[in-house]
Amino acid sequence: MAAQIIDGKKIAATLQQELLERIQKLKEKGVTPGLAAVLVGENPASAIYVQSKIKKCLELGLFSETVRLPQDVSENTLLQRLHALNADARIHGILVQLPLPPQIRERIVIESIAPEKDVDGFHPVNRGRLQLGEETFVPCTPAGVQQMILRSGVKISGQHVVILGRSQIVGLPLALMLAQKNPSANATVTLCHSATKNLSEITARADILVAAIGRANFVTAGMVRDGAVVMDVGINRVEDKNSPKGYRVVGDVDFARVGEKAAAITPVPGGVGPMTIMMLMQNTILAAERRL
Ligand SMILES: NC(=O)c1ccc[n+]([C@@H]2O[C@H](COP(=O)([O-])OP(=O)(O)OC[C@H]3O[C@@H](n4cnc5c(N)ncnc54)[C@H](OP(=O)(O)O)[C@@H]3O)[C@@H](O)[C@H]2O)c1
Repeated sequence: MAAQIIDGKKIAATLQQELLERIQKLKEKGVTPGLAAVLVGENPASAIYVQSKIKKCLELGLFSETVRLPQDVSENTLLQRLHALNADARIHGILVQLPLPPQIRERIVIESIAPEKDVDGFHPVNRGRLQLGEETFVPCTPAGVQQMILRSGVKISGQHVVILGRSQIVGLPLALMLAQKNPSANATVTLCHSATKNLSEITARADILVAAIGRANFVTAGMVRDGAVVMDVGINRVEDKNSPKGYRVVGDVDFARVGEKAAAITPVPGGVGPMTIMMLMQNTILAAERRL
């Protein structure tokens, strides 16, 4: 492995120390940042995600509340709970764990969260503000990717960043963030998707390559330029008979082979994942600071 490993756990731990100082300052002013997580139904993956977010809140000394609703809950009941959370002064951030059951319209739910409490950055007002380059909440995973790049000493300004995947929660907001006119961004961004032609030629021109498509080991060494920085957002399960669970988790990048060519690379697990949750904590603290 020639590449430097960009250690998400280590960067997240540094960020956590910085956040603890901000929390302390808020507490000195009588404010404890609070996060409400809304969980609908029994989806095991959603339950695990919510649990880990609440655990991190407790570790940092934040106030947290979990609203659990049954799988068959009506949209109206969910909206009423959101209105109550919007009005609750103890709550600075609200997240609704996705996906939602089919009787509930995701768009209506997201639009019912007060934009100033939308710490996932999914509300159209916050998406619009991001596009305008105004003060907003940026979605947590792309925010984590940007922080990891910057904190590992890699300059983004002036670089060609190629992003694989244009989802509303990762690829597209990341493209908007890195194309902003500010010293922490200023990249030349190419956003690729399933209709992109000559993908390997484009990825091979990237100074920084971000993979966020959800396909195991999709990015091979032949697609990567020597000395590129490779950020792997993907989380994929692949069968592994040697593992007690019968599977292991890998990213979208062939880590071993791409690691021979890249200058720096994120592992999966232990890369972008730990940063995502830390950015949620940061957004919650930011929401509390903005209300002072
Ligand atoms: N680490 C974390 O905290 C974190 C957070 C969120 C997501 N993830 C992971 O990141 C991955 C992506 O998540 P997502 O929610 O963004 O996925 P998504 O909504 O399924 O979007 C996938 C994107 O990849 C594109 N794509 C699919 N196949 C492609 C191909 N062969 N060539 C080029 N582009 C292709 C799709 O193109 P079209 O638009 O043309 O369909 C789409 O834009 C998943 O593995 C997910 O688990 C990780």
